Amino acid sequence: MYPLNVAAKERVLAPMIQKSAWAPPRPAAVGRLPRRKLAGMSTAHHPAPSLPTAELHLHIEGTLEPELILALAERNGIKLPYPTLAELRAQYEFTDLQSFLNLYYANMAVLVTEDDFADMTRAYLRRAQAAGVRHAEIMMDPQAHVNRGVPLATAINGVASALATSEAEFGISTGLIAAFLRDLSEESALEILEQLLEMKAPIIGIGLDSAEVGNPPQKFVRLFDRARAAGLRLVAHAGEEGPPSYVVDALDLLKVERIDHGIRCLDDAALVARLAAEQMPLTVCPLSNVRLRAVDTITDHPLTAMLDAGLNVSVNSDDPAYFGGYVDDNFGAVSAAFGLDADTMAVLAGNSIRSSFAPDSRKSELLAELAEWRSVQA
Ligand code: HPA
Ligand code: ZN
Repeated sequence: MYPLNVAAKERVLAPMIQKSAWAPPRPAAVGRLPRRKLAGMSTAHHPAPSLPTAELHLHIEGTLEPELILALAERNGIKLPYPTLAELRAQYEFTDLQSFLNLYYANMAVLVTEDDFADMTRAYLRRAQAAGVRHAEIMMDPQAHVNRGVPLATAINGVASALATSEAEFGISTGLIAAFLRDLSEESALEILEQLLEMKAPIIGIGLDSAEVGNPPQKFVRLFDRARAAGLRLVAHAGEEGPPSYVVDALDLLKVERIDHGIRCLDDAALVARLAAEQMPLTVCPLSNVRLRAVDTITDHPLTAMLDAGLNVSVNSDDPAYFGGYVDDNFGAVSAAFGLDADTMAVLAGNSIRSSFAPDSRKSELLAELAEWRSVQA
């Protein structure tokens, strides 16, 4: 739409979008080796940058860092209400989910071309690689783009083009999940889903996100029926701000295979017992919960209570550019808050790998990497 010549594009984006030289994947034996623990030192208060993990709860639009937002605004000739980095950064104080969503949707205005979507995605993958992510199942919000006039194919193809080279470039296997905005109608979601199927979009599943309270799972039964019939995997946000009954309904009415967040299940003992018995994966996002005030502080987070209850929880970053960190930062925060030992970190990472939709061969590969990581921790 507003093409930049290559030199100008490099000038604007070079500081934050460095193309890495392609390198062949390293053999497993010399792959990402964990940092050896110093004798007598506890791992408890150290982030674990090399803990191999799968990221299962990540909104790609939530990885748009402020610097990239300004660079893309300049590239696309878009005037933002917050023209400087300082003014933009000053907006990142949230009181609840909706206060975050307002900024999250507003900032998407800078995503116009396929390159914009690809550059955003590649920037996430590069950072995720440094965080220890070995497999990522990435949500995107197609309706948020179509409804502001961006063609569906532009958004999907942009993200998908970066994912297509992720394994070769970053050693991260990926899957793409189309998330539907629950504050919009089911008709709108069905219409986009049909278009995604028609264009054979490379998606592995669908999700449900955006404003939870007042938009319960029962609003989307037909959508999830249609996706299931098309062979797609099913996930939904539930129990982030909404009540435990939304988690129950996501399971029983939508028949989801994973619950995103799910922390409010703890208000219902029968639900906790069911989730534990079924080993239903819950993709927990600790820093998100603090920043959106679902919990007061990181030490109030229910992660360890959930582990103690026998729940299948993993650690994820949700919208890392908005909530103070990527998956290594989330592991670091809970490790520091609760003094987690290497066994617990390995349980969390193992849960993420087993709960992913990766092929069994990939899961085995990553579980072996995790076992290797664990073996060199004291
Ligand atoms: N919750 C609900 N919807 C979202 C979120 C979230 O944390 N991030 C992006 N869309
Ligand atoms: Zn989320």
